[in-house]
Amino acid sequence: MKLDILIGLQWGDEGKGKVVDVLTHNYDVIARFQGGPNAGHTLEFNDIKHVLHIIPSGIFHPNKINIIGNGVVIDPVVFNKEIESLEKLGIDPTKNLSISKKAHLILPTHKWIDAMLEEQKGKQSVGSTLKGIGPAYTDKTARTGFRICDIIASDFFEKFKEIYKKHTDLLFKNSYQPKEDIETVFTEWINALPTLLRFNLIDSEYEINRYLKEDKKVLAEGAQGTLLDIDFGSYPFVTSSNTVASGACTGLGIAPNQTGKVIGIVKAYCTRVGNGPFPTELFDKTGEQLQKQGGEFGATTGRPRRCGWLDLVALKYAIMINGVTEIVLTKADVMDNFDIINICTAYKIENITTERFCSEYDKTIFPVYKEFKGWKQNISKIKEYDNLPQTFKKYIEYIENETGVPITIVSTGPDRNQTIIIEK
Ligand code: GDP
Ligand code: IMO
Ligand code: MG
Repeated sequence: MKLDILIGLQWGDEGKGKVVDVLTHNYDVIARFQGGPNAGHTLEFNDIKHVLHIIPSGIFHPNKINIIGNGVVIDPVVFNKEIESLEKLGIDPTKNLSISKKAHLILPTHKWIDAMLEEQKGKQSVGSTLKGIGPAYTDKTARTGFRICDIIASDFFEKFKEIYKKHTDLLFKNSYQPKEDIETVFTEWINALPTLLRFNLIDSEYEINRYLKEDKKVLAEGAQGTLLDIDFGSYPFVTSSNTVASGACTGLGIAPNQTGKVIGIVKAYCTRVGNGPFPTELFDKTGEQLQKQGGEFGATTGRPRRCGWLDLVALKYAIMINGVTEIVLTKADVMDNFDIINICTAYKIENITTERFCSEYDKTIFPVYKEFKGWKQNISKIKEYDNLPQTFKKYIEYIENETGVPITIVSTGPDRNQTIIIEK
């Protein structure tokens, strides 16, 4: 078997959590490969709405294996809270969740350094979720990180004291004073560590390769989105990991020739939370309508998401980088009442029209739009592709023709059941 990979093709929040939950019945194993509690993946079923930050979105299916891979950064306190809220729902995640020993830990000092760096950047701040992601990955690449396997090592306290001193010295040098009481926060962090030790700590590379050899189906669940990728996103307004499909290879320990389908999740429009360029952003009533109808408020921070039209230039770029083999289109129901819907087909930059995704963000980008008639119909209860309005099908077919990638699923609402599988 080959490893299938599911990733966001925009700036995150495309509906990855919902789609993974829907697809889990096709798989034996769901594995997260990067990011950390900056992610917020929302699942809705049986009138329950659940937001997952670190735990893979297959966790609600009792017979499926869930793995947190080596590429993930884990905050033990957030993890502990996630486990508690699952237990309240009667789920015992210790039965089907394993954690890579090589995954790195987020310390409270990472969060303070994150806040300090953002404050220093002022207007140029990234708009980080302030979960300590950047500083935790900085320590990982600087080879000064703290891993899950370090918790059980005999020199745990020595190593911990070393990293704690390094961080507090940096904060002190920059006159940064955490708002919380340092001792209380560290006690909570230390007290959360035993929860991690209740789980099977694994070498995810060995386990997942074994599953694939045994013909088990494995799905890698991405966090964030392609345009937030550390290399290919709108740098420096990005997250600190490789959110693209190839990140699944390094984030789980799977060779590139062991990968199969690449499922790209795309919202029928665009949103972005945090700062940075967003060529199709709408600052008018239509933008407000998208935000309101789409409930576009961050699942992790509650911040309002910036909204705009679908950007085909960025989408084609994301498809190229990821090698997307099929698209899942989400949240089209949000535009049910729109008279006119636009898709950006090119950028105009200094009077030159281009279909190339632009990484020079100091320049003003004017989107070139193609106009579509809205479907003006409630699609949220439609179960069959054939029953979708013609105008919506035209929108779908246009995206397919332009990208050359089939749309295999249309999501018409947040619930698990509001999903149309398109037989191709
Ligand atoms: P993720 O980070 O990619 O998993 O996405 P989020 O969970 O952060 O944000 C997606 C939001 O849209 C969540 O509130 C979902 O419940 C919701 N959602 C997902 N798919 C659909 C859909 O097709 N229609 C509508 N209206 N909401 C959806
Ligand atoms: P999911 O998995 C949307 C954004 C932040 C900020 C930038 C860097 O739910 O799609 P960080 O906390 O990593 O330092 O933030 O990336 N960001 C997300 N935006 N969805 C996410 O995750 C995000 N994770 C980070 O808003 O602009
Ligand atoms: Mg999200």
